[in-house]
Amino acid sequence: MAPPLIQAVDLVKHYAFGEGEALPVLHGLNFAIAAGEFVAIMGPSGSGKSTLMNILGCLDVPTAGHYLLNGTDTAELGVDELAELRNQLLGFVFQGFNLLPRKNVEENVALPLLYAGVGRAERQAVAARMLERVGLANRTKHRPNQLSGGQQQRVAIARALANSPKLILADEPTGNLDTHTSEEIMALFEDLNRNQGLTLVLVTHEPDVARHAQRLIHIVDGRIAGDGPVDEVLGAQAA
Ligand SMILES: Nc1ncnc2c1ncn2[C@@H]1O[C@H](COP(=O)(O)OP(=O)(O)OP(=O)(O)O)[C@@H](O)[C@H]1O
Ligand SMILES: [Mg+2]
Repeated sequence: MAPPLIQAVDLVKHYAFGEGEALPVLHGLNFAIAAGEFVAIMGPSGSGKSTLMNILGCLDVPTAGHYLLNGTDTAELGVDELAELRNQLLGFVFQGFNLLPRKNVEENVALPLLYAGVGRAERQAVAARMLERVGLANRTKHRPNQLSGGQQQRVAIARALANSPKLILADEPTGNLDTHTSEEIMALFEDLNRNQGLTLVLVTHEPDVARHAQRLIHIVDGRIAGDGPVDEVLGAQAA
């Protein structure tokens, strides 16, 4: 059987500060996410969601415990191997879009391919395909500040898709968007999950956003307080 795409084993994270002091943030998380799942993560501000996402994205490392990505214990990889795994498997989407303001839409989308050493013609072709996929084929030469928030987030999603990742990690991707635009972005994520088989892990504060996922992991004070079908976990949260 294929290993889960993501596996957290007794995952602990402390942030060091001052002289030998440490702030415990994640207290031993255990969960697995299979390829093809669409998982939402909710929890109060400061509960450790972004800390967890940074570890899942190999942008940070756990203090103790293990993080296995596609069956590989990330602790056993060197910096270069980790970067390669990240480039091959992962795409990131952020609350603030994080587009480069001086680059046009097409150049922003092509950026991960530039880092991967892909040639110019191929970069342009892939960027055009990804922008088509997110419904922005008619905006390729615009600058980010010439686009609406929802359009900017679509560009960021196209960029995350450029290197054909298996997994997209999105930390509050609709946090800066109005309700209507959020729904459009979530419909796009749902389509990518259902029809392209993309695995999605998405942090949100909004129950209505979480409802687009199949599974909800509820984190409180760095511990898993609920994990299951979205409506069940939301029901338990409300009770
Ligand atoms: N780089 C860091 N160094 C030290 N402490 C940090 C660091 N990043 C986060 N923290 C602390 O870890 C805790 C969890 O932060 P985190 O950003 O993971 O919360 P969050 O659940 O994403 O919150 P929010 O919903 O507000 O985004 C907070 O108390 C925060 O102050
Ligand atoms: Mg956060």
